[in-house]
Amino acid sequence: MGRLVFFSFLSIFSFLITFSDVMIPQKQVMALPLSTDSRWIVDENGKRVKLACVNWVSHLEVMVAEGLSKQPMDGIAKRILSMGFNCVRLTWPVFLVTNDTLGSLTVRQSLQSHGLLEAISGFQANNPSIIDLSLLDVYQAVVSSIGKNNVMVILDNHISKPGWCCSNSDGNGFFGDQYFDPDLWITGLTRMARMFNGVPNVVGMSLRNELRGPKQNVNDWYRYMQKGAEAVHSANPDVIVILSGLNYDKDLSFLRNRPVNLKFSGKIVFEVHWYGFTDGEAWKNGNSNQVCGRVVDNMMRVSGFLLDQGWPLFVSEFGVDQRGTNVNDNRYLGCFLSVAAELDLDWALWTLVGSYYLREGVIGMNEYYGVLNLNWREVRNSTFLQLISAIQSPFRGIAFVTS
Ligand SMILES: *[C@@H]1O[C@H](CO)[C@@H](O)[C@H](O)[C@H]1NC(C)=O
Ligand SMILES: *[C@@H]1O[C@H](CO)[C@@H](O)[C@H](O)[C@H]1NC(C)=O
Repeated sequence: MGRLVFFSFLSIFSFLITFSDVMIPQKQVMALPLSTDSRWIVDENGKRVKLACVNWVSHLEVMVAEGLSKQPMDGIAKRILSMGFNCVRLTWPVFLVTNDTLGSLTVRQSLQSHGLLEAISGFQANNPSIIDLSLLDVYQAVVSSIGKNNVMVILDNHISKPGWCCSNSDGNGFFGDQYFDPDLWITGLTRMARMFNGVPNVVGMSLRNELRGPKQNVNDWYRYMQKGAEAVHSANPDVIVILSGLNYDKDLSFLRNRPVNLKFSGKIVFEVHWYGFTDGEAWKNGNSNQVCGRVVDNMMRVSGFLLDQGWPLFVSEFGVDQRGTNVNDNRYLGCFLSVAAELDLDWALWTLVGSYYLREGVIGMNEYYGVLNLNWREVRNSTFLQLISAIQSPFRGIAFVTS
């Protein structure tokens, strides 16, 4: 499979680029909830639904979906739809739902506690009706606003203690780490699953972002991920349950000979992350075709094989510095897009975010991987958006004319 990809990726992708303008965008008439049919995610009628998502960050210290001090919530949701995404991977931290003191803070209080006065006035101007709601209510309001615009949501447990993710030593990496108590995590997943039970546009929950660090091991992965999956499914049988791998969600190789063992079926999806920096500076230093061949071979070995085994694989994070100045990212992007097209993958772009209220101590940090600009008003780089629009529609599962 890897080899096939290697030899055909350029021609396939150039075809898609050429013809993407004349392809009629898929009108999403989905009958929710979703389930799986072999490697495909399908709706109630068995029709393929391709996830073309964007990540919307809501797990940092402030615990509010980013950008609401810049633009009205509904405007952002409409913008997501108009940019061609059909789904949002909306992040959340465990403590939001397990610590009542935190969950019941209002947005104003949370912003105040971090000294974010400019964000308060921006929020007051753009989203006055929710600034004095609790953080939990605002999370639900955001989901509801996305849903009103017919965009699906995947609730992504990104971290336990709110803050920027991820490092090996941040105490959030693996079961048993300082802030990562498995029981509390199950409690959090269960509450979240229950809270959105009956909310049709919440189509999936990913159990935990980027497991990592010195404690990570395969046995605990099965022990806790299976437990987490069962807990979510019992609390909300409608959602697809998304399982991430080890080593920053790069490695699912252990599943090759030891499948998950669950009481339910037809609802499991695996996720993987793939950036340019995943392979260090390989793209910058090597020949793009060779690096692409090598990296894709490896990807097929450690995660892509799941497609052949009949499991959906969701690339829940990929992205580039959209200023176009990062050579490593630029070269990786060509390879990524070709593979995503060739394998017709489900995916989520990192990220929607134009800027953060507060990230890693920096107020109003600009996000160069964000599809919106600093003010959340314009698209940061329309060439980039045009490129990814070629993989937003499904290639298989709908009829379209090929040459
Ligand atoms: C909840 O969060 C607050 C604020 O960070 C903290 O002081 C408190 O100890 C937390 N409570 C629990 C039960 O973890
Ligand atoms: C926009 O993105 C494209 C594709 O990644 C890149 O080649 C270009 O340099 C970027 N342009 C600007 C103005 O940032």
